Amino acid sequence: MDTLVSLSKRRGFVFPSSEIYGGFSSTWDYGPLGVELKRNIKNLWWRDMVQRRDDIVGLDSAILMSPLIWQASGHITEFTDPLVDCKVCHHRFRADQLDGDRCPDCGGELTDVRRFNLMFKTFVGPVEDDASVAYLRPETAQGIFVNFFNVQQSMRRKLPFGIAQQGKAFRNEITPGNFIFRTREFEQMEMEFFVKPGTDEQWYRQWVDNRYNWYIKYGISPDHLRIREHQKEELAHYARATSDIEYTFPWGWGELEGVANRGDFDLRRHSDASNKDLSYFDDETGERILPYVIEPAVGPDRIALIFLLEAYHEEPDKDETRVVLRFHPELAPIKVAVLPLSRKLGEEAHNVHSLVRSHFMSQYDDTGSIGKRYRRQDEIGTPLCVTVDFDTLADSAVTVRDRDSMEQVRVPLDALVQKLKDMLKLGE
Ligand code: GAP
Repeated sequence: MDTLVSLSKRRGFVFPSSEIYGGFSSTWDYGPLGVELKRNIKNLWWRDMVQRRDDIVGLDSAILMSPLIWQASGHITEFTDPLVDCKVCHHRFRADQLDGDRCPDCGGELTDVRRFNLMFKTFVGPVEDDASVAYLRPETAQGIFVNFFNVQQSMRRKLPFGIAQQGKAFRNEITPGNFIFRTREFEQMEMEFFVKPGTDEQWYRQWVDNRYNWYIKYGISPDHLRIREHQKEELAHYARATSDIEYTFPWGWGELEGVANRGDFDLRRHSDASNKDLSYFDDETGERILPYVIEPAVGPDRIALIFLLEAYHEEPDKDETRVVLRFHPELAPIKVAVLPLSRKLGEEAHNVHSLVRSHFMSQYDDTGSIGKRYRRQDEIGTPLCVTVDFDTLADSAVTVRDRDSMEQVRVPLDALVQKLKDMLKLGE
């Protein structure tokens, strides 16, 4: 993990936040390559959830919403973690994550358990009183539930259908950590799939499978993933059933994504609290029903971490070690690098770069030996390098080198873009 954190900083994936001021606990900034990786993750999720399905539409609701929403959803009373402090070293822990009843750091005595609400509170407007309290959303899901009627009506949707949303969420976590695994400010990608009661169990299983297979498709080994069904006592206050898709992180198995059957908990709560009828008219039976909801929910920050962990490889290369990020081409921040063998070839190489960059996220690098430049691109996971050499001036062709096999092929310039597309196989 330390190696990955250090590579992430050195190569512009993720930087410690507020670093020049000594840092700010458990917050991270995405650098030029990290922002591409995370954007690729979010775009793939959106493409597979919304663009390529007939039964899911998108939404982008506000982060600040009426506090009545959090009252109705149960977050004000239920969204808490059990907190204990050590009376000796004053370290803080989540009581549900401790094995014994003494401090794991110094063996000191612990305080009684207190319930700690995870929502960040703020004030709307200039007056800081009870009437102006608002919360930063701790999940994007509620913005979907309160817009259920708007979306269903405006898009003339019939059950089953889903609403997908991506955006920031905030939780005052007691124990953030493990790099970008658990932070207080993070992003979520959630999809609420509304179904007829009675069909919920089948859809729940279908979404667990669908989401599990999504990770396999983009390069996660099945050996590194497992599905863990929650025991009754572990279920969140809104859930009838939940399965976590877990990944084997360096510190052990941990939650990557949760798929929950939320029943009609949310629509019922919001109907009751707002006095607005959120039921759905089933024109097959002529009855009004309150749909059940299946929810796959995940954080792209956590996905970025697993793709980085999975991609990282060190392999012997002559007397040295080659570090290579074997990203699926869809995820690679840079798809193609253009490398002139000599600076004297700058004009020709810039022309090649212009050709390539309108199709792919690309980089131009003319510093250091060609071997060093290949290594630099391997280390950030660039699938293809295009080398412009002196022969290019005579034969109008370039060499394309594959990151994984390190094989090279000569390609005529007028066929280059198509060849790169064929090799990257994006959009499949
Ligand atoms: N709407 C349901 C919900 O929010 P959750 O299991 O609390 O469920 C869903 O969160 C996903 O959001 C998690 O599986 C994880 O991927 C991500 N997530 C939750 N808390 C996080 C945090 N503090 N930092 C990073 N990602 C987090």
